[in-house]
Amino acid sequence: MGSADIKFSFSTELVVERRADIILVPVTTAASSRRRGRPTKKEAAKPEAKKAGLLMTPVLSQLDEAMGGALRKIARDEQFTGAKGKLLSLRVGDNDKVAARKIILVGMGDPAKVSLRTVQTTFTRAFGAALELNNLSTVSVVVPAESPNHTMAQWVSMVVDVAHGATYCTQESLKPNPALGRVVLLTEKLPSINLRKALNEAVVLAKAKNVVKDLVNKPANLKKPETLAALAKDLAKTHKSLKVKIQDDAKWIEKEMPCFFEVARGSVESDPPRFITLHYSPTAVGAKRRRNTKKIALVGKGVMFDTGGYQIKPGNSMVTMKGDMTGSACVLATMQAIAELAPNIEVSAYVAATPNKISAQAMICDSVVSTTCGKKVEIRHTDAEGRLTLIDAVAMACKDEPDAVLTIATLTGAASMAVGLSIALMANDQSLRDAVEKAARWVGDPVQTLDITDEDFDNILSDMDGADLRNTNKGDGRGSQTAGAFVMCGAPEGTPVVHLDIAGADMTKDEKATAIGVKTLIQWVLNEAG
Ligand code: BES
Ligand code: MN
Ligand code: ZN
Repeated sequence: MGSADIKFSFSTELVVERRADIILVPVTTAASSRRRGRPTKKEAAKPEAKKAGLLMTPVLSQLDEAMGGALRKIARDEQFTGAKGKLLSLRVGDNDKVAARKIILVGMGDPAKVSLRTVQTTFTRAFGAALELNNLSTVSVVVPAESPNHTMAQWVSMVVDVAHGATYCTQESLKPNPALGRVVLLTEKLPSINLRKALNEAVVLAKAKNVVKDLVNKPANLKKPETLAALAKDLAKTHKSLKVKIQDDAKWIEKEMPCFFEVARGSVESDPPRFITLHYSPTAVGAKRRRNTKKIALVGKGVMFDTGGYQIKPGNSMVTMKGDMTGSACVLATMQAIAELAPNIEVSAYVAATPNKISAQAMICDSVVSTTCGKKVEIRHTDAEGRLTLIDAVAMACKDEPDAVLTIATLTGAASMAVGLSIALMANDQSLRDAVEKAARWVGDPVQTLDITDEDFDNILSDMDGADLRNTNKGDGRGSQTAGAFVMCGAPEGTPVVHLDIAGADMTKDEKATAIGVKTLIQWVLNEAG
């Protein structure tokens, strides 16, 4: 379960000399093979058009020489040009002067267009292929120098992420983890302190992703609000810098967080709600408390399973709703990473955990319920439950007077329609929105921004006597933005709130947790700490 326990290290040894089972070598296409479409007659007549192919770098030349020219010959025979996503596996023969058993050339395509996403997709394939080798223990990876689109640190971090992802197994899996003991990162020059730091952080991020994956992939019948509470308690036990508070008194929740309780109503007996808070404070680990230490609140949607309530989810749309607690898994995993990295910033996580289920007591439409912030909410759809839990969790978070609030939630099918497998990022504050978007892009989490307008807030005003807000909008689409606006209503005027809707991206098409967002959260917190 989890990922293989991989050791990472840097080495400046020559690629042909470093002992390994496999060497992964990123390669790109040479200029002449990069043209899109067919060459013009004039272009085709030029001699280099025929030679279009792999861009030979010093590393490739070294390998080719050590193999007596076989690398070039095989690449030519196999018409391997380094095109994006293509792999070329080369067995190292007994007479070759390469201290590895196998070489895999990893096609990255046009060098000018290599993005972090390219690194992610191509190296996912490359590690997949590498893991098929019998008795695998060490993989060397050639780290290219800076590229126009990313730094070496980002490149290395992505490879660390991918290596962990490739060896990840769920806690329920009966298969053993693929063996991968060591990944050696081959660099030309000695790695800078910055690069070493990036490697350490990348390992912490990768472990946090696994925490999310384990929780989200866990079967629906095996996780309850208490599962998240137990994890939060565990984290606080392991890390002195974390303080946990679990509110398990249903009467307290009903009184103090009535909108959250409305969702929990249907399952108070079978799987009672929990309101979890986890505080990280740098002072607890001895860092000098500065007067200007920022304070950040992270709020994650913790709907343990979403049946839709009385407006029950039809057909297959209930399948994958075990993933409706991904936001809460992300914020708890972020707290683990923050405790490990000990940045100088105050961070608190808030999770209102409950399933959305049915019983005689369960929430019904046309109800008017109160909230922690005092606004009254008209219930118009029992399946728009996430925002009901979040509006109160955000209001609770704001009682601690944070400088900024971040919410992360599998909130709306509309987000999935709008941005697919990306994070839909919304905010009521431009600089906060920019900061979180920057963090997402830096770590390579796919992200798209959506604008929340004044009309979105008007669109969720209730027409019912005695109610201020309604939990669905009045039509005209904009399902994600109006849901985001609703969640922001939990915060007092002037509090910067950023909202990440990950409903389209929390799981892959084959229903495995992606842990999208967690790297973004950690990176943003680190950036804010400075
Ligand atoms: N948990 C769902 C959103 C969701 C949908 C997550 C698909 C992941 C995949 C949320 O609680 C929900 O049901 N939203 C409704 C809101 C609607 C009733 C206003 C939706 O998006 O359909
Ligand atoms: Mn729902
Ligand atoms: Zn939901």
